[in-house]
Amino acid sequence: MTIHDEYRTKHAKSAALWERARRSIPGGITHDIRHLSPFPTYIERAGGTRKWDVDGNEYIDYWMGHGALFLGHCHPAVVRAVQAQIARGTHLGGCHELEVRWAELVTQLVPCAELVRFTMSGTEATHLAMRVARAHTGRSRILKFTGHFHGWHDGAVAGVNPPYDVPMSAGVPGATLDQMLICPPNDIKAVQLALERGDVAAVILEPAGGQSGTTPTIPGYLQELRALTTRHGVVLIFDEVITGFRYSPGGAQAYFGVTPDLTTLAKIVSGGLPGGALCGRRPLMSLLAFRGDPDWDRSQRVAHAGTFNANPLCASAAIATLELCADASLQARANKAGEELRRNLTEAMKRAVVPGTCYGEASIYHVSFEGKPGLAGPDRPRRSALYHLLRCALMNNGVDSSMEAARADGRRRRGFSSCSSAVCSQAAAFTTRPSRTSAACASCPSTGASCATAMARSSSWTSTARGCSRTRWCASRRRSPSAPSS
Ligand SMILES: Cc1ncc(COP(=O)(O)O)c(C=O)c1O
Repeated sequence: MTIHDEYRTKHAKSAALWERARRSIPGGITHDIRHLSPFPTYIERAGGTRKWDVDGNEYIDYWMGHGALFLGHCHPAVVRAVQAQIARGTHLGGCHELEVRWAELVTQLVPCAELVRFTMSGTEATHLAMRVARAHTGRSRILKFTGHFHGWHDGAVAGVNPPYDVPMSAGVPGATLDQMLICPPNDIKAVQLALERGDVAAVILEPAGGQSGTTPTIPGYLQELRALTTRHGVVLIFDEVITGFRYSPGGAQAYFGVTPDLTTLAKIVSGGLPGGALCGRRPLMSLLAFRGDPDWDRSQRVAHAGTFNANPLCASAAIATLELCADASLQARANKAGEELRRNLTEAMKRAVVPGTCYGEASIYHVSFEGKPGLAGPDRPRRSALYHLLRCALMNNGVDSSMEAARADGRRRRGFSSCSSAVCSQAAAFTTRPSRTSAACASCPSTGASCATAMARSSSWTSTARGCSRTRWCASRRRSPSAPSS
């Protein structure tokens, strides 16, 4: 039986739901990352390290709410907090004490956080960060790196996936794309050249590397970036939507010892419920505050709204989560589990003679069939058919792949052996040349951030010089599939 035959047999009710979904939802899915060939699995319930689908299959969950559930599903402290709050109101139409406590926790834990503003997602947080940086500097351009993901708003869709001159989405005006400068990662000279233009407001990056560390940041690079941005008066933004509270209680900035000006947060920051945050240095964050001066308040202040910002339900889950995340032994345990998982998967692939590798940092793991990427990351789309196949094989073996290795209890062992058996038992399929399997699987349009889990890409882009010239080309001749630059 092939992987897909087994997947179809084990997921009949999911197949029927997907057929039904496609009648009322475009493509049948509500997030690009849930695109899976031949069809997605429909999950019914979850608890702790496990989840169960509509066909009654049980999974060890390494996906964990796209990385939002650092404590696992339905942690008792979070459930208690949310149950207590839901009976008191989900939207109080005013300020409340929980948002104050939530903000205090963020400022206590995140090194750069002198002040915090809550949003409803990571996408909103990066959008707001760029607006604050532009208001602060009076400059318009934002520098980002190829392969780095900062959500789906118009100002963040450039240079996410190869080919980098084609934005992640159609429907974005060329004028907006022109406000982005794209550099290859880990190339400080390319950044220096770009900053010398004098029109850059901010440099934004995932500090541990693009798409959850798929192309890891090299040692010393963050320090160099910090010094360079300071020298040019450019705002340094760390997008810690993934790494925040995961790498350490203070996120990647505490882990690497480099403090940015602004930090964007989501996922863990709101305890597995919807939410996000922008935090940072007081002079920048104060641009959001009313001063009672009509001119400032109306025309100089950075405006920010959002009906559900810091709603008490999300705040209650966030407080329960962050109070636990303040204990560094939690991250240490998750990181150790991540290390063990990476080692076991690497050995399993070696044993099965699968041409792949497993790598990563902290509690994140990446599986790559093309080898560990070089410094500049991938320069071509990954062979997505193989990764779709791997995910189906993992699900057939009772594992949903994710970057999460947070619950270091005894049950984790089965996760390792199930991952291994998925890889080993299906070794022949994974050694198949991609050209022979691509017909069976549609390509994944957005592998996005959290798909860094088991779906890493690798690089054949080894020349830094080539990276530099491509950067300039990207900056000056960027194409948009539906909205050509004028
Ligand atoms: C690094 C990074 N930034 C921003 C986002 C967008 O966050 P959200 O999905 O909450 O809009 C993500 C999502 O995975 C992310 O990984």
